[in-house]
Amino acid sequence: MSGTFYGIGLGPGDPELMTLKAHRLISSAKVVAYPAPDTGPSFARAIAAGIISKSATEIPIVVPMRVDRFPAREIYDTAAAEIAGVLKSGTDVVVLCEGDPFFYGSFMYLFERLTDRFSCEIVPGVTSLTACAARLKRPLTARTDVLTVLPGPLPDAELRPKIEAVQAIAIMKVGRHLSRLKSLLTEMNLLDHAGYVERASLPDERVLRLSDLTSETAPYFSMILIYKGDEAWMLPPSFSS
Ligand SMILES: C[S@@+](CC[C@H](N)C(=O)[O-])C[C@H]1O[C@@H](n2cnc3c(N)ncnc32)[C@H](O)[C@@H]1O
Repeated sequence: MSGTFYGIGLGPGDPELMTLKAHRLISSAKVVAYPAPDTGPSFARAIAAGIISKSATEIPIVVPMRVDRFPAREIYDTAAAEIAGVLKSGTDVVVLCEGDPFFYGSFMYLFERLTDRFSCEIVPGVTSLTACAARLKRPLTARTDVLTVLPGPLPDAELRPKIEAVQAIAIMKVGRHLSRLKSLLTEMNLLDHAGYVERASLPDERVLRLSDLTSETAPYFSMILIYKGDEAWMLPPSFSS
């Protein structure tokens, strides 16, 4: 009988935000796969490092971090073939996923290649969206307000009407788009409604009002949260972290 393929959400970075189920499956796993950049360590592996067995076989899936190379078809074909080989031998494979596997996660590229042939289980994780709201100490949305999640790389012409249409907005993948996004939100009179969270839940986390952020670019793991609804949640004048 073939092994089971697990997509495991690890949460946003603090290992204490991992679920008990994720912890159990990772610590007992014989084969652990995870995405890794072509330079530097894997963020997903770093979150789970303390509980991966020393005897586990590791399958790093090296994906270049350049946007124009996504989705890297051949890389996922090769990784899926390697994982399929392990599953066919009857061994389970655990795939580590930062945040939640099905929330903008690269895990879905493996999922689509393997799910029709093997038993697959998804273990949801704390998303960066909810982690950033928690660190900003401001509810994401309420009552009949609508929340929209937007990728920062979208052009202004697409972002503007989507931001105008709702009361709560999360902008992900801020990175090198920070200056442009800040200008857009300033033009829309929303800068004072915007909070910024970088590397939520990690020791080097930063939580600021977007207007207090002076840098031109942001790291990849950053997010802007805007609330313009009628509730009385205001951004505090400053943040301690
Ligand atoms: C490819 S998506 C992965 C999302 C992830 N699967 C999740 O459930 O949160 C990457 C984006 O998530 C956001 N992100 C992930 N982890 C974060 C963190 N610890 N702090 C702030 N933003 C984070 C950033 O906007 C980043 O550009």
